[in-house]
Amino acid sequence: MVIIFRTLVSMKFQPLWLLLLMIFCAFPRHDAANSSDVASEANALLKWKASLDNNSQASLSSWNGNNPCNWLGIACDESNSVSNINLTRVGLRGTLQSFNFSLLPNILILNMSYNSLSGSIPSQIEELSNLNTLDLSTNKLFGSIPNTISNLTKLKYLNLSVNGLSGPIPTDVGKLQSLLTFDIFTNNLSGPIPPSLGTLPLLESIHLFENKLSGPIPASLGNLSRLTMLSLSSNQLTGSIPPHIGNLSNAKVICFIGNELSGEIPIEIEKLTGLECLQLADNNFIGQIPQNICLGGNMKYFTAGNNNFTGPIPESLKNCYSLKRLRLQQNLLTGDITNFFDVLPNLNYIDLSENNFHGNLSPRWGKFRSLTSLMIANNKLSGVIPPELGGAAKLQVLDLSSNHLTGSIPQDLCNLTLLFDLSLSNNNLSGNVPMEIESLHELKFLELGSNYLTGLIQKELGNLHNLLSMNLRQNKFEGSIPFELGNLQYLSSLDLSGNMLSGTLPPTLGGIKGLETLNLSHNSLSGGLSSLDDMISLTSIDISYNQFEGPVPDNQVFHNVKIEALRNNKGLCGNVTGLEPCPSENPNDHNHTTRKVLITVLPLTLAILMVALFVLGVSYHSRRTSRKETDQVTSLRSASIFPIWSFGGKVMFENIVEATEYFDDKYLIGVGGQGAVYKAILATGQVVAVKKLHSVSNEEMINHKAFTSEIQALTEIKHRNIVKLYGFCSHSQYSFLVCEFLERGDLKKILKDDDQAAAFDWNKRVHVVKDVANALCYMHHDCTPPIVHRDISSKNVLLDSEYVAHVSDFGTAKLLDYNSSNWTSFAGTFGYAAPELAYTMEVNEKCDVYSFGVLALEILFGRHPGDVASLSIGITSTFDQMALMDKLDERLPDPTSSTVKELVSIVKIAIACLTESPRSRPTMELVVKELAMSRSSSMSSTELKDLIR
Ligand SMILES: *[C@@H]1O[C@H](CO)[C@@H](O)[C@H](O)[C@H]1NC(C)=O
Ligand SMILES: *[C@@H]1O[C@H](CO)[C@@H](O)[C@H](O)[C@H]1NC(C)=O
Ligand SMILES: *[C@@H]1O[C@H](CO)[C@@H](O)[C@H](O)[C@H]1NC(C)=O
Ligand SMILES: *[C@@H]1O[C@H](CO)[C@@H](O)[C@H](O)[C@H]1NC(C)=O
Ligand SMILES: *[C@@H]1O[C@H](CO)[C@@H](O)[C@H](O)[C@H]1NC(C)=O
Repeated sequence: MVIIFRTLVSMKFQPLWLLLLMIFCAFPRHDAANSSDVASEANALLKWKASLDNNSQASLSSWNGNNPCNWLGIACDESNSVSNINLTRVGLRGTLQSFNFSLLPNILILNMSYNSLSGSIPSQIEELSNLNTLDLSTNKLFGSIPNTISNLTKLKYLNLSVNGLSGPIPTDVGKLQSLLTFDIFTNNLSGPIPPSLGTLPLLESIHLFENKLSGPIPASLGNLSRLTMLSLSSNQLTGSIPPHIGNLSNAKVICFIGNELSGEIPIEIEKLTGLECLQLADNNFIGQIPQNICLGGNMKYFTAGNNNFTGPIPESLKNCYSLKRLRLQQNLLTGDITNFFDVLPNLNYIDLSENNFHGNLSPRWGKFRSLTSLMIANNKLSGVIPPELGGAAKLQVLDLSSNHLTGSIPQDLCNLTLLFDLSLSNNNLSGNVPMEIESLHELKFLELGSNYLTGLIQKELGNLHNLLSMNLRQNKFEGSIPFELGNLQYLSSLDLSGNMLSGTLPPTLGGIKGLETLNLSHNSLSGGLSSLDDMISLTSIDISYNQFEGPVPDNQVFHNVKIEALRNNKGLCGNVTGLEPCPSENPNDHNHTTRKVLITVLPLTLAILMVALFVLGVSYHSRRTSRKETDQVTSLRSASIFPIWSFGGKVMFENIVEATEYFDDKYLIGVGGQGAVYKAILATGQVVAVKKLHSVSNEEMINHKAFTSEIQALTEIKHRNIVKLYGFCSHSQYSFLVCEFLERGDLKKILKDDDQAAAFDWNKRVHVVKDVANALCYMHHDCTPPIVHRDISSKNVLLDSEYVAHVSDFGTAKLLDYNSSNWTSFAGTFGYAAPELAYTMEVNEKCDVYSFGVLALEILFGRHPGDVASLSIGITSTFDQMALMDKLDERLPDPTSSTVKELVSIVKIAIACLTESPRSRPTMELVVKELAMSRSSSMSSTELKDLIR
């Protein structure tokens, strides 16, 4: 036989050779195995290589000749037989169908993780009878898991995670008696968890999260005495937790988040003294939480939020010094929490909101040195906010809203310079807002509504440059609106309603160009509204119950405003149903005078402001950099880093911190919902954008593996119209994403600037619409599972020097949403979010389609289209299309007739995307197809003339 083979190998006539080989392989198996022939192995591998796409074949260029032992990813045993195939992250695209497993009987390790393999897992995989490691994770495999997989009885590590596999888990998995790890998370698997899983004596970890598994948790799992990790989160499991779980004496991590489990928690769970992480949140549990949950003193992460637990906080959490994260929110828990907790030095995050706790806020909280988030909203806390709380120096989120707190806001709270969310709304707080509040530089959300706060609105609030939302409604503030608020250039929501404010609107208010919602109702404000003229982003306004007079501004929000938002003023006029039209004699007079005032006042204030800022800035900057540098060099050394890179490693982390001088403001290029963006020039000369996130702590990532693999997958996406994500890094102080840097910045900024908008001509705009559609289509239809953006808006579309659009933040909206376990509450940017988000939590591709519709119109109109619901009513007739053409960006010359055709089809497609019912919206695939045809769409010349005004 050997002689036959030698001659065969030397033959050049391949097809015949192949044919003979196939006949040969039909012989009984032991024959083939004994010969364990290198040539037949080489041939099987080459045949599979030939079935892959061209790029994959190019990656496997070392695969030629007949000695596979030195090919990429291949290792052989002593007898020169292939024993190990490791092709992780090679960019393979194709299927496993033509992989002839029977010719490779001696393989021990088969690792093809992180590729783009599709199709199903062939049932012939059982031929790899010696396999101990099978890793096909993070591919695009679909179909069901073949039952024959249970014949791989030597398997120790099985990983099929992050694919599109469906159907049930094979019931015979109990035959895999050597198995140590069983990972099939993030697929579409359904049906029950097979009880036979509980018969695998060596099993150490089970990850089944993010599937559609149903039925009960099998009691047999209690037999797995070596099990340390059990994650069943995000499935549809029902029934109660079997008491047998208490026998998992080696368990460290147990996660049941996001199922439909019910009943009481079995007391036996207290026996698991080694437990470090127990996650019960988002189920239907009732009864008391077992009191000795931290008996072993090892518990770090305990979450039981959003259930119907009653009774007190478990006694053993009082002095659970290992505790890092505690989430008990949204239950029916009771008790006096005044001095319940000892000082817990490691506690980083605690959420007790929406329960029935009473008592006071203990001064002891100020001694929790690691605390970054303290949330006790919606309880029955009384008494004052203790000034000692200002000692919890790491605090970033403080939410005490909806309690019965009294007294004033202590000045010491302003020592918490890392705070970015301060919510004290809906209490009985009184007195003035301390002037020192200006030291909360990181503040993004300031919620002080529904209290009894008095005095002036502090002009120092204008120094909170990062503020996104300010709510002072329903208080007793008086005096006028300070002109310094005009400095809050990132503010998107301002609510000053229900106070006793008087005077006229400061002309600087128009400086808040990005403002989206403004509520000034129920005050005594007077004068005209001309300072709102430039607020082109406004999508919601209420100025009712004031003393305003004169014409309403001619910007988008007022075109669609309801009279309810304007009523009970002194004398507003304009083209709004329910208002008097303005006297027509000299309609421009009013505008002229206010313009004049603006022209004289504005430069003066600006100049004064700039001098002031400069003086402040210099002293502040020099103070800060010196302090920062010493602090952080030391902390960097001891950093615990969680990096995912497509290049570099820890070195890259340090390079970035260095290149931005510890995120100094001089490198700041923008601020978005997720955090500030910096431009960093690395030592290599490469320019990257670094997005510093406010809220990803290591502790947040319990589903570490899923998080890692999702970010990893995102770094592997390569598409012309998607901003390249290079990596992610989390560290006790900073978490950041590193992305491609794009010269022209975001679309929102470009459309706002008259000069840039004029250079952004019709042709470029049409291409940008197509680019965005291509990016979305790719993520929705060429990725399995599809990746939904969730936050498409003009802020997230960046242009390079050639005006090619790149969509940014793909996939990260879900991953990095603050409060990650509760991510479905995220609802996109106001004005772009699909209407169903208001009543369902379901975020799917069709939400992106809706936002795309808004964005496409915004690109053509040069501004946000405003209330799209009214736009899309009865839009089918050509007459309405003409009305729409009237809205085209006036800063550009009229489009040529051939361009008009394209613009009309874009508008039509956009309107279809805005259909209220998600089901009736087109898919992005269809959108791309329609856009491609738009240039050739035929339209009669009369129709055309009608459209070109
Ligand atoms: C597989 O290859 C990758 C990259 O070459 C390497 O990092 C990994 O350790 C290898 N795994 C095994 C099991 O050999
Ligand atoms: C392999 O698995 C299938 C399905 O579970 C079974 O019918 C078959 O007998 C098994 N073959 C061997 C050799 O165990
Ligand atoms: C809690 O109980 C109420 C009343 O029975 C029920 O409506 C609600 O859905 C339950 N909540 C959870 C999270 O189980
Ligand atoms: C807040 O800072 C001030 C000034 O540095 C200091 O006197 C005060 O003790 C601090 N308060 C707390 C609670 O640490
Ligand atoms: C008033 O508004 C309506 C609808 O927005 C518009 O059709 C009409 O032309 C406007 N009238 C004037 C005088 O601007």
